[in-house]
Amino acid sequence: MARQATIPRESRLLIVGLGLIGGSLAAALRRSGFEGELLACDPDAEEIARGVEMGLIDRGDTRLSAMLDGVSLVVLAVPVLAMRGVMEELAAALGRAAPNLVITDVGSTKSAIRQAAEQAFGRLPPNLVLGHPIAGSEKSGVAAADPALYVGHKVILTPAPDTDGDALARVRALWCAAGAEVLEMDVARHDQVLARTSHLPHLLAFSLVDTLARQDERLEIFRYAAGGFRDFTRIAGSDPVMWRDIFVANREAVLAALDDFEAGVARLRRAVEAGDTDAMLATFDRASHARHYFDSLLNQTSYQAEYQMQAHGKLRYRAGPGGAVTGRIRVPGDKSISHRSIMLGALADGVTEVSGFLEGEDSLATLQAFREMGVAIEGPHQGRVTVHGVGLHGLKAPAGPLYVGNAGTAMRLFAGLLAGQAFDTELTGDASLTKRPMGRVADPLREMGAVIETTEGGRPPLKIRGGQRLRGIAYDMPMASAQVKSCLLLAGLYAEGETRVREPAPTRDHTERMLGGFGYPVEREGDTCWLQGGGRLTAAPIDVPADISSATFFLVAAAITPGADLVLEHVGINPTRIGVINILQLMGADLRLENPREVGGEPVADLHIRHVPLKGIDIPLDQVPLAIDEFPALFVAAANAEGTTRLRGAEELRVKESDRLKAMADGFAILGIEHQLFDDGIDIVGGGGEAPNYTGGRIDSLGDHRIAMAFTVAALRASGEIVIDDCANVATSFPGFVTLARRVGLSLQEEQEAS
Ligand code: S3P
Repeated sequence: MARQATIPRESRLLIVGLGLIGGSLAAALRRSGFEGELLACDPDAEEIARGVEMGLIDRGDTRLSAMLDGVSLVVLAVPVLAMRGVMEELAAALGRAAPNLVITDVGSTKSAIRQAAEQAFGRLPPNLVLGHPIAGSEKSGVAAADPALYVGHKVILTPAPDTDGDALARVRALWCAAGAEVLEMDVARHDQVLARTSHLPHLLAFSLVDTLARQDERLEIFRYAAGGFRDFTRIAGSDPVMWRDIFVANREAVLAALDDFEAGVARLRRAVEAGDTDAMLATFDRASHARHYFDSLLNQTSYQAEYQMQAHGKLRYRAGPGGAVTGRIRVPGDKSISHRSIMLGALADGVTEVSGFLEGEDSLATLQAFREMGVAIEGPHQGRVTVHGVGLHGLKAPAGPLYVGNAGTAMRLFAGLLAGQAFDTELTGDASLTKRPMGRVADPLREMGAVIETTEGGRPPLKIRGGQRLRGIAYDMPMASAQVKSCLLLAGLYAEGETRVREPAPTRDHTERMLGGFGYPVEREGDTCWLQGGGRLTAAPIDVPADISSATFFLVAAAITPGADLVLEHVGINPTRIGVINILQLMGADLRLENPREVGGEPVADLHIRHVPLKGIDIPLDQVPLAIDEFPALFVAAANAEGTTRLRGAEELRVKESDRLKAMADGFAILGIEHQLFDDGIDIVGGGGEAPNYTGGRIDSLGDHRIAMAFTVAALRASGEIVIDDCANVATSFPGFVTLARRVGLSLQEEQEAS
């Protein structure tokens, strides 16, 4: 995306080395409306003549000293190993440049160029800003100059602590004018990153083409080389001198990257030799998904369209008033069960076939993390996933931190199962997850003998030391949390003796049920459940029901909308999850459970709901943990009921993806819905009747998927449009929400927020 950039105010700019990179910069500056003089210096007089002829530069010369008079900015665009000579010449002739001269370069390695500068100038000059545009082409020479070469590409600047701020700003302005996105990094990091992402692939491409060419001197073989070969080797056509210089200059970082690559190829070689199809599949699957993700970043489109938008947090909903809610739909699979299906499938002996898997970002993060620990997983393809279990002790150390995005469930459950592994791990997440409390799992895990580091206040990232002997404990949970319970049960699989968890109120029991389904006995008596460590899991098929938490948005939509009549198919109605059904029925909703049945150890039914007026209620305390994720939507039901609805005992809502009590109250204040906020709950005064109960307005979802969907539903009874910011995270739990909402009759548009 081209961005508005101010035009650099340099009076006279000199490009030293008028090849593809220097020439394209001149072309881009010309196109941006740059009004200063553009000069070039190059040892090849023909290149200069061509540059003038193409209108890229005003004039040029083969001698640097002849070009420096009054120059305010010099861009060094010569091959890396030529930098030192050019810098020495520059140091000797500096008197002719303007007093506020700025120097920058475009070299692909930075340590070697910094060293050259220190030698040439006697120290690193504060007016020298080292930089590197991550753009190029296999073509070379000024004739290939392209004014769009840098548009949308990154330029990395590597300023030193005493680099002059004004010089840095002027170099930034230069690249912004060329359409690039400017980042800063330190020199060492730059060289490591580029060794892996650029230098190594070039080395491999050169080597592959050369190897094949040597085997067939007449190059006959290339006749048969089609797309794969062409895609892989395009960059082997790049400038040999430039690349020789890069490998000389960035030797250490390139060798380290090459070592890792060789180890990876050796692993694959062994897999091919041994016919180890699981190992091959694990590698290919991991790579294929990583490549798709990379593609989506690169193309600004996505195999999960929302993923990229989430990275930028720029999706906005416009929900119009007065929609309808009718039809028959099935919402996506249950998030809690989807996470667990991958976790237990991976730890089981045998192959687990999952259907109805939620292809949302949270559960996909769990899936990806297991791939990174060496588990072969096929899919998801339309909700089908095949997990090739590795057994309780078969996970392998991941190469880096495991990133679980927005998923609290993934982080907390992983904490338990990773505490029992032989290797160290680190769990990281997005900005929202990084604020959420992890002491609730780290503390009891430490009691079991785990070694876990958190940051201050028990926040992520979690660093988990492997190789610890865990002991079973009896734990009295201070809060009703299925995540904490599940975390401890998973750690308990690896612990000596018995792990017991007592819960202050019933919480979702999917972990216990699924462990049972995988042949691992979990006992329960009253409020306590327990298991013995040291058993094994046996793969079993899993049919994931539709998520009652996602269904809730449509249940509330239908409950509050005159004329609504909706069926939600195949919804999970596990007794530990049906708080929303009980609460809506207490409010007077016409909600029936049809065709109840059981699939894979979980009860399901079709939920049929028709609009009838609702009344406000005091929400029974025992329903709170059973409806914990459903409150944002239930508050919207309350805002449309006759009378006041009161909720207490729900302090857990403060530590979800956002502080949901505050987020909803803030939104209600904007829409003019009367309410009173308490530490552990809220009172909401409903409008009742059939007229709009509140106004429209602009709401911040705070990146919380359930806040975004709740206010979308609220719009059905608003007098005007509700605009909701920061909605991309809806994809964490409910991919396809907008399409489904429109299908039943909601008026909903999505748009990119301007940054
Ligand atoms: C979940 C448990 C709940 C719930 C979350 C999913 C689970 O969290 O809010 O969305 O899958 O175990 P707590 O157990 O922390 O309340």
